[in-house]
Formats: sequence, C-alpha cells, structure tokens
Amino acid sequence: MKGYGIVKTLNELNLNHSALLLEEAHFAHSQLQTNMASLGGQANILEVGCGYGVLLSMLAEEFPHHRFSGIEPFFDGFAQLETFTGVVSQMNVNMKTEAYGDHHPEEKYDAIYCVNVFEHVNDWRHFLDWATDHLQVGGKLLVMCPNYGFPYESHFRIPVIVNKYVTHTLFQRYIYRFEKNNDCVGLWDSLNFVKKADVRQFLGQSEYSLRLVMSDETEIIDELVLRFAQDTEFRKRHRFIGGVAELMKKLGILKFIHYFPNYNPYMKLTFTRG
Ligand SMILES: C[S@@+](CC[C@H](N)C(=O)[O-])C[C@H]1O[C@@H](n2cnc3c(N)ncnc32)[C@H](O)[C@@H]1O
Repeated sequence: MKGYGIVKTLNELNLNHSALLLEEAHFAHSQLQTNMASLGGQANILEVGCGYGVLLSMLAEEFPHHRFSGIEPFFDGFAQLETFTGVVSQMNVNMKTEAYGDHHPEEKYDAIYCVNVFEHVNDWRHFLDWATDHLQVGGKLLVMCPNYGFPYESHFRIPVIVNKYVTHTLFQRYIYRFEKNNDCVGLWDSLNFVKKADVRQFLGQSEYSLRLVMSDETEIIDELVLRFAQDTEFRKRHRFIGGVAELMKKLGILKFIHYFPNYNPYMKLTFTRG
C-alpha cells in the first residue's frame, strides 16, 4: 500500500484493528480516486461520517490542491471510533464532531462523499435533500453502501428475512450478542435498510429528479469480486456472500448480475446536482 502518512502512523501505533481499517480505507480510496482526480482546481470536498478519518487523510494527502474536510458525530454503535481521532489529529485533517443535519457551512461543496454511511442515516431522503442544498450546481454526491435490495445484512453477516423487523425477531439473540461482543450497541437500530430501487424511484418523483441526477456504477461489484479473490481477511469476514459470489462465478452466471442492478449487494451511486 502506498506510503501515506496515516498508514505509517497507524502502523507505528499498532492499534487494534488498524490493519482492517487500512484495508477498508484502501478499497474506498481505490473507488474514489478517479472521482477526486476529475475535480478541477481547488475543489471543496466533504466526507460525511468520516469515522476515524483514515480515508479522508489519504485523499487529503494525495490531492493537496483540493480542500478536504470531514464530519463525524460518533453516534450510538460507533462511539468506539472516537478513540482513534487522536491519530487523525496528527495528520492535519480538518474534521468536526458533527452530524450532517447540524452542518450548514456558507460555502457550497464541489463534492460530498460518504462510505458506508448512507445505510445508517435516519432518513436517506432527508440526507439527499440536505446534500442537494449544500452542493454547487454540477457538484457531485458520491455514495457507497450496502444495497438491501439484496437480502443480506453485511454488518451482522446474516440473511435478511422479509424485512428488518422480521429479521430482528428471528436473529434477536445473535444481534444482541454481536453488538455486546463488538462494543457496538445501537448498530442494528441505526440501519435503515435502504434499497437502490427505492432511491431510484424517489429521484424519479416530484422536484428531486430536477435537482439530482443519479448514475449507478455497477462495476463496483466486479471490484468486490476481485477483492474476495485477493483479500483473505475480507473473504473470512463475508464468507456467506463471498461463497454465493464464488458459486455464481463457477456457474458462469456472475456476469448477469449487471442486468439486475437493483439486486446487487453493494452500490456506488453518483448524484449530480442540476
Ligand atoms: C459504518 S460507519 C462508517 C465510517 C467510515 N465512513 C468508514 O467507512 O469507516 C458509519 C458512520 O456513519 C456515521 N453517521 C451516522 N449517522 C450520521 C449522520 N446523521 N451524520 C453524519 N454521520 C453519520 C456514524 O457515526 C458512523 O461513523
């Protein structure tokens, strides 16, 4: 992995989970790099829900001509993230402890991005509305997160049976234990089970279609399949879904997944402000 300052700092501190953190940030970085490179001049960029700020720090180092900032409220289920912010403060990254709903800067953004956050916000429709208000005309909102059109909950690594309520009823004990053992009580409650098809439908309605135009980058599924093949830890963490992908590949039907974008397990959506 490239010698970013944050990589060196985390390696030196040898913190719990730092390798995992770096792997996750590295994947997100590989997905967003081109988007950041395509922004001209001194773009004003915000990461929403930047967690530990590792990705933010990498991008800020790689694109010093852009202005990066991040917001992170450390909501229930993610309070443990706060212990890492000291690390990021050494990296000179502009980060505020704030939820997006409380963030109203005067200047608009050229790009807003969020990685594995959209499925946690209370109301993703409200989030899209907020992002529209805070983007320049022509600005981009980049969203990467699980798509619950595919019946799998990737944080808890369980199948989704019918909906959130029924799944919770069936896996109640497991969910309780998982949250307790992983110090993330509140994680299940934070999930909104967003489906790509619902986002598409929402944007097709009323005034939203005029303000945000969505493009669906389904290639991210190919990148994830590649990651399953190359990243042993990732494969171990997502055995079920990795197994399904491998089986589909063996049967030669994985390529057809692009014909059913609403059912892909993960999504990268780009919204352009009109
Ligand atoms: C799964 S974590 C992802 C963190 C980081 N983006 C990453 O990929 O490691 C989800 C994050 O969304 C944040 N979040 C949830 N609701 C939010 C809101 N209303 N505004 C900003 N961030 C929010 C949580 O605090 C948490 O840090």
